[in-house]
Amino acid sequence: MKKLLLLSLVFTACQSPKRSTIDAFNYTIQKEIIAGNGAVASAHPLASMVGLEILRRGGNAIDAAIATQLALAVVYPNAGNLGGGGFLVARLANGDEVAIDYREKAPGAAHRDMYIDSTGEARTDLSQDGHLASGVPGTVAGLFKSSQYGKLPFSELIQPAIELAENGFAITAREARSLNNLQDELKKYNTMMPVFVKETPWKEGDTLIQTDLANTLKRIQTNGQAGFYEGETAKLIIEEMKRGGGIISLDDLKNYEAKQRKPHVFDYKGYRIVGMPMPSSGGLLVHQMMKMIEDRNIAAMGFHSTQAVQLMTEVERRAFADRAEYMGDADFYNVPVDKLTSKEYLDQRMMDYDPTRAGNSVVTKPGIVAHESEETTHLSVIDKEGNAVAVTTTLNNSYGSRTVVGGAGFFMNDEMDDFSIKPGVPNMFGAVGGEANAIHPGKRMLSSMTPTIVLKDNKPYLVVGTPGGTTIPTQVFQTLVNILEFDLSTSDAVNKPKFHHQWLPDELVIEKSFPGDVKDSLMQMGYKIRERTAIGRVECIKVLEDGRFEAVADSRGEDDARGF
Ligand code: DON
Repeated sequence: MKKLLLLSLVFTACQSPKRSTIDAFNYTIQKEIIAGNGAVASAHPLASMVGLEILRRGGNAIDAAIATQLALAVVYPNAGNLGGGGFLVARLANGDEVAIDYREKAPGAAHRDMYIDSTGEARTDLSQDGHLASGVPGTVAGLFKSSQYGKLPFSELIQPAIELAENGFAITAREARSLNNLQDELKKYNTMMPVFVKETPWKEGDTLIQTDLANTLKRIQTNGQAGFYEGETAKLIIEEMKRGGGIISLDDLKNYEAKQRKPHVFDYKGYRIVGMPMPSSGGLLVHQMMKMIEDRNIAAMGFHSTQAVQLMTEVERRAFADRAEYMGDADFYNVPVDKLTSKEYLDQRMMDYDPTRAGNSVVTKPGIVAHESEETTHLSVIDKEGNAVAVTTTLNNSYGSRTVVGGAGFFMNDEMDDFSIKPGVPNMFGAVGGEANAIHPGKRMLSSMTPTIVLKDNKPYLVVGTPGGTTIPTQVFQTLVNILEFDLSTSDAVNKPKFHHQWLPDELVIEKSFPGDVKDSLMQMGYKIRERTAIGRVECIKVLEDGRFEAVADSRGEDDARGF
């Protein structure tokens, strides 16, 4: 009898994970915190609150990162996702460095010229919008792969997301605007109208309830990874694909695997920088850029000095030229990582650097080595056990392909556009590519996502990342230089105006708030300058001298930092 009672207690505990105590109808945004036990910074207050709740319950940073991502899939449908993919970089308490790749894959029926029409035109409309734009989603597999390092059961980590989807949450004015702007596209790219479609405009404080999504999350809670890649959810994805002309198959879903990879690691003046390897270009690009400035005493030039900005622009140009030629999924293409990061090579890359005038992307080609609206989201988490986690995840464009899987309630990605769909044809971020990043069945499209952890004295020091397409590696690069070289406060390192150069197009992009005098002198040096609104949304956690955590959420969005 006693045994029976115990069994039934265990059963009940498994059946009903602890309910969340978060009030999803009454919350504020918090930009910066200092905390002693753990911290989370993410793109949405409710998601950061979920991460914090998991940390408070005794979950570690990996648990919190998983729960935060699941919450983002509900409260931040622009980029939080089940239908997309991402990367996790972690430094564990035991010293292990981990990289998990849950990037989307080209479906089995994909082929190299699938976005080139009979007249030879590249059809970016098809690689960017609607059913054919989606790669095979990786997120759910990635979360389960990550959970091997967590402490709490997955069923508990997903519970807050289920409640947020089932009971709803109050949307902000910005979210209302975003959904209102999306209405026409939602009607165009959906075969069954999702809950986001509304005949009267959304307004601040409206409740967003996502019943279909709650049911999908419950199937994952009950059946694990198979609750997404097999059974009812898989069936709904395939039916959606068939209704809209997509090519993802049941086999594609069933065979999707998240991959454990060796992180891309390098040293910079005594710091150890741990980043994502291929299929993200992020780790390699940051490595190249940091090394190209390392011996040039940039600290003496000063933050936002013309000299420093010009030097950083020129190293960005050179790294991105290499990206276009040499980078792609290393399971399919031999990426010459060692060569691209060797001192001789990078010195040679900077031989024609002229500190007095603008470089030129016609002259600066990819180095010669032997051939061998955007929206993503980043979260940074740390705990007092010594685990640090950086995750960047995406649907590619804001709301991905804008197609919601009928009956399953989540957006599909439009990540196929991150392949080079035709040599030289820019993707939605203006990035060009060729053979290295050509489409092939089962291949992962090249990414710029750059979740990064910096170690100092062999302990976590910074946890950094950002959305922003091709601007991601340059924003991470600048945040690192701001802290490691210019000694800026974490808040300034995150929030001060940023800039971006990606080789092609040959222009220097700056935020509107960028200092006018620096802009003028750069123009005099020959730079073509384009101003734009916010670049990136960095979430940065820094470990202070006394061991406490300082978490800063970018003021460019409704990003939020929590801790305790
Ligand atoms: O993986 C990549 O590089 C892109 N799909 C990221 C897209 C992105 O950051 C959009 N957001 N701002």
